[in-house]
Amino acid sequence: MDRIAITGGQTLHGEIPISGAKNSAIKLMAASLLTDEPLRLTNIPRLADTRFLAQLLRRLGVVVTEWQEGAEQITVLHAAEITSAFAPYDLVRQMRASFNVLGPLVARTGHAKVSLPGGCSIGARPVDLHLKALEALGAHIDLHEGYVYAQAARGLKGAEIEFPFVSVGATEHAMLAAVLAKGTTVLKNAAREPEMDDLAQCLNAMGAKVEGAGTSVITITGVPKLHGATHAVIPDRIEMGTYAIAAAMAGGEVRLTRARPELIGAVTDKLIEAGVSVTPTDDGVIVGRDPNVRLKAVNIETAPYPGFPTDCQAQFMALMTTARGESLFKETIFENRFMHAPELNRLGAVIAVAGGEAVVLGVDKLRGAPVMATDLRASVSLVIAGLAAEGRTVVNRVYHLDRGFERLEEKLSACGAKIERLKGGEGEEEEAA
Ligand code: UD1
Repeated sequence: MDRIAITGGQTLHGEIPISGAKNSAIKLMAASLLTDEPLRLTNIPRLADTRFLAQLLRRLGVVVTEWQEGAEQITVLHAAEITSAFAPYDLVRQMRASFNVLGPLVARTGHAKVSLPGGCSIGARPVDLHLKALEALGAHIDLHEGYVYAQAARGLKGAEIEFPFVSVGATEHAMLAAVLAKGTTVLKNAAREPEMDDLAQCLNAMGAKVEGAGTSVITITGVPKLHGATHAVIPDRIEMGTYAIAAAMAGGEVRLTRARPELIGAVTDKLIEAGVSVTPTDDGVIVGRDPNVRLKAVNIETAPYPGFPTDCQAQFMALMTTARGESLFKETIFENRFMHAPELNRLGAVIAVAGGEAVVLGVDKLRGAPVMATDLRASVSLVIAGLAAEGRTVVNRVYHLDRGFERLEEKLSACGAKIERLKGGEGEEEEAA
């Protein structure tokens, strides 16, 4: 397993281009299953998660071709024929979102067998809402030996589905299935994350009729067939928030480009409240902070979009470890998402966790130490802490980072961070995430 070593104390100066959104990319790639024509996606980030999904899609019969044209990354997915509607455990367990192939497979072929994704380190993360939505659309669902068997021999039928609470994955999954259903589907209490709108725009370019994505009511008028299209993946708002927080932690001035800051206002507002300067530019923001002035502690409560994203909670907690005063963090989306707290404490932070809340008492300084990455966003919070910690921090189990951050060391070192990848070491098994 690789590790990442950071020698803290360097301020950051330079430019970081933001990649395409991982969470959007993997649902857009799954949309390729809905048509026998090629789907051309630009700006797909080259990450372990997109590689896992490409591997699964190939197993199902999709021809996946990737190349680079200048700065542009192009991926063409062509599912001329679905040769198998079976998604095995060993591929689904590597990435939960692979489960989202179930809906498109049933919609296109009338049947599918897809492994249940299982739990993951940040919480139980069941898929009951996904399955209820598919049942409402007329799929017959059976669970057997860890697999979901779905059947809809005569096709799916439009339905009204009201989610009991907001789920990003279930909203996207229902959208992916309903586009080919007969009649109209109305999704109520739908997730409003920008990735919904990105998916809807891609599906509409493929000939679907999706309205209202980005609001809590999405209406989908089913069509008999979709066709090929070209679509550019939206910039990764979580990656942008992460580098904005990294710049705030290290101090200095960093220009984030190819970004859509309006999609991550909840994070930039909190940065400004803490004393960071955030200046909009044509294609992003400039984040600046005087390293000699301590930031002010602010409180964070995660919430569905447009609230503060749970995917930036760990990074902001790292930032607050050296702020002046006490910050209260409330995590409302996942039940077990403070695993970075004990690791940050190893660096000298003072964080007390009780249930879904954590209190961070700002300290003057962090000190480098070996730490363990536990999940994707937690691992980047340790890198952020390492940027400001005195001495050397070594983050173990960085395969978590590789799932979601494209060229992280390269992007940070280009701005002056002392960060390097240490090949091999610590023989841990890769686990489901
Ligand atoms: C997606 C994102 C993840 C982000 C999360 C919340 C992807 C690949 N991942 O995850 O990075 O942190 O949104 O913004 O896009 N739940 C159920 N039953 C279900 C589905 C969800 O109980 O059938 C629960 C989950 O356990 C969680 C909550 O609902 O507590 C919200 O989860 P959801 O919005 O579905 O997150 P994901 O789509 O898994």
